[in-house]
Amino acid sequence: MTVTEQAYAKINLSLDVTGRRADGYHELVSVMQNISLCDTLTVSREGEDVCLDTGGALSADESNLVCRAANAYFDAAGVRFGAHITLEKHIPMCAGLGGGSADAAATLRALNALDGNRFTKERLAAIGASVGADVPFCVMGGTRLCRGIGERMERVENALRAHAVIAITGEGVSTPQAFAALDAEHDDFSVPAREAEQRLPAILAALRGGELEVLASLLYNRFEPVIERERGSVAALREALLAAGATVARMSGSGPAVFGLFASAEAAERAVHSLLCKGVTALACALI
Ligand code: C5P
Repeated sequence: MTVTEQAYAKINLSLDVTGRRADGYHELVSVMQNISLCDTLTVSREGEDVCLDTGGALSADESNLVCRAANAYFDAAGVRFGAHITLEKHIPMCAGLGGGSADAAATLRALNALDGNRFTKERLAAIGASVGADVPFCVMGGTRLCRGIGERMERVENALRAHAVIAITGEGVSTPQAFAALDAEHDDFSVPAREAEQRLPAILAALRGGELEVLASLLYNRFEPVIERERGSVAALREALLAAGATVARMSGSGPAVFGLFASAEAAERAVHSLLCKGVTALACALI
């Protein structure tokens, strides 16, 4: 039996860091959104072991989030079975688009399907939390308000009819280093926590009402000024997206990927074309 799962990337429509836990992890308030950019995972139940084929795109050892997700699944299920997993990679890595977490979530969904749907989606999301902070969101998908380190989620009504463009230049960003840079700037996160709660009701209302222009003035990413200080290319990309007609352009996660939201698919396609001509990696995708 073979199961195919699409592993959808995410963007952080808004992202604030609101606290630092004793274990070093950070608390977040983030509205996360799936986009149509995806990896494809094909999983067959066969053999004795888990075998991961990435076609050489990335390491297929125990450090891979797919392998870690498989182990977490079997630990929770209390059973093991062999699986051949093929991962076709399209989501840029270390970009702030949650590619590894999406692959982990797709692994959990695929193994669960091959195991007679032993777990509910909510239980799978909880299993995913031990693999990575963004994995629970990737299991559930859609538009969600994520709190805690990302594991506490509420569904968000999203009537936005926007078209997204993802643009990337430069090297990947290390998420732990991005958090360390924030720690260096904040003794505590009481100010960001207050600001996040102040912004949130208006963001949720604008999403509910599908008001892109209103949303444009509200979306925020706490990492963005920190990363832009080191990398002028991120600010330049946001400016290029705005110049190409984006209503809003923000960094996603800890970067360096940037997303622009456009009112029309044509404007988004034109922006992709102009960025590609400048040698920037750019693609249009849907909010899903
Ligand atoms: O959970 P994940 O493996 O994606 O996180 C990578 C690293 O990013 C963690 O080891 C931690 O240093 C940092 N992190 C954090 N707070 C979060 C998520 C990640 O400090 N909510």
